[in-house]
Amino acid sequence: MKDFSAEVHGCHAYDATGALTTPVYLSATFRHPAFRESTGYDYGRVANPTRCDFERAIALLERGGRAWALSSGMAAVNLVFALCKVGDHVLLPEDLYGGTVRLANDIYNRYGIDFEYIDMRDTVLVRERMRKETKIVFIETPSNPMMFVTDIRALAETAHAHDALLVVDNTFLSPHFQKPLTLGADIVLESATKYLCGHNDVICGVLAVQDAESELAKEIELLVKSEGPNLSPMDSWLMLRSLKTLGVRVERQAESALTIAQWLRTLPMVTDVYYVGLPDHPQYALQQSQSRGFGAMISFKVKTPEIAQNVLAHLKLIAFAESLGGVESLLTYPIVQTHAEMPKDLIERTGLDDRLLRLSVGLEDVDDLKEDLEQALKKAAQKG
Ligand SMILES: Cc1ncc(COP(=O)(O)O)c(C=O)c1O
Repeated sequence: MKDFSAEVHGCHAYDATGALTTPVYLSATFRHPAFRESTGYDYGRVANPTRCDFERAIALLERGGRAWALSSGMAAVNLVFALCKVGDHVLLPEDLYGGTVRLANDIYNRYGIDFEYIDMRDTVLVRERMRKETKIVFIETPSNPMMFVTDIRALAETAHAHDALLVVDNTFLSPHFQKPLTLGADIVLESATKYLCGHNDVICGVLAVQDAESELAKEIELLVKSEGPNLSPMDSWLMLRSLKTLGVRVERQAESALTIAQWLRTLPMVTDVYYVGLPDHPQYALQQSQSRGFGAMISFKVKTPEIAQNVLAHLKLIAFAESLGGVESLLTYPIVQTHAEMPKDLIERTGLDDRLLRLSVGLEDVDDLKEDLEQALKKAAQKG
């Protein structure tokens, strides 16, 4: 089934009523038909029919064998780190979501797991840094917020040559544009709060693996069952509804993003534009080879930190807010928001600074978005 159809229908099976949409099964527990018999649903933490329908739809879209719907993107990242044991080594990219760094450095470091941050664009360097203790190579591509693109196929090969897992945080593109499991990744995860939800009204995470019967799938199932990070039935239903419009939303958002990225370059107060859909992005060809779209996330630098800060107060249509991927356009100031807790040396290595703004392009009219940005930038430049 093609993506647009999979997004609309998922794996929906009609029940006796013929309902077109999956009902919300608000039941914490399920009656057993008889001793040692089950309907397939026993207890809501382990399985819930609404959540399972959403999980099957995600597995279908990711081309995976099994997917889990979780209470946040961080719950998905947490499951990945929870696969490690004392002494394991994890390679992380230098440019990534600050919350993942906090989970690694402030929580999992305590349990004797060694996290090393490197430039994942350098496939030779990744090969050099693999150790016999390396359990996971974790990447974000495109990365947050500098839009670095990592070669998923090459890193899958490197990870597997060392019996390690390649994990891809696919939040910036969603499975509509990029399917890491088909490129060799062992685990794909998304902060589904972003494009998969698309309406800035649900906090959710998803995670998928290739083979439902694999040891990896069994280990993740054990963690989910034991730790209970699952998504609620109501939120699962909202996510099923969101999924139906994923393709139309992200394709239109990406179209507007390309227009805005090209236009931003013409503004005198803008010095740099980072968008993977610009043909002179250093990894444009790689991006094209592993995805079928460029997404709608743009970072850009303005001339001074004062302009970057002042612009936030002058926005009228675009909201100054954290997060991304929704129908409402958002402008973020990563250095004090999403990346506030990043170690200074990491920030210096990637080029993220106090002149960088990150724009999540929504579904508003593209001319209105340009007009809002232009008036806010002009006012900010006069002040700054
Ligand atoms: C790339 C990326 N991964 C993971 C997360 C965490 O997701 P959540 O906020 O849904 O927990 C975020 C949140 O912004 C993100 O941008």
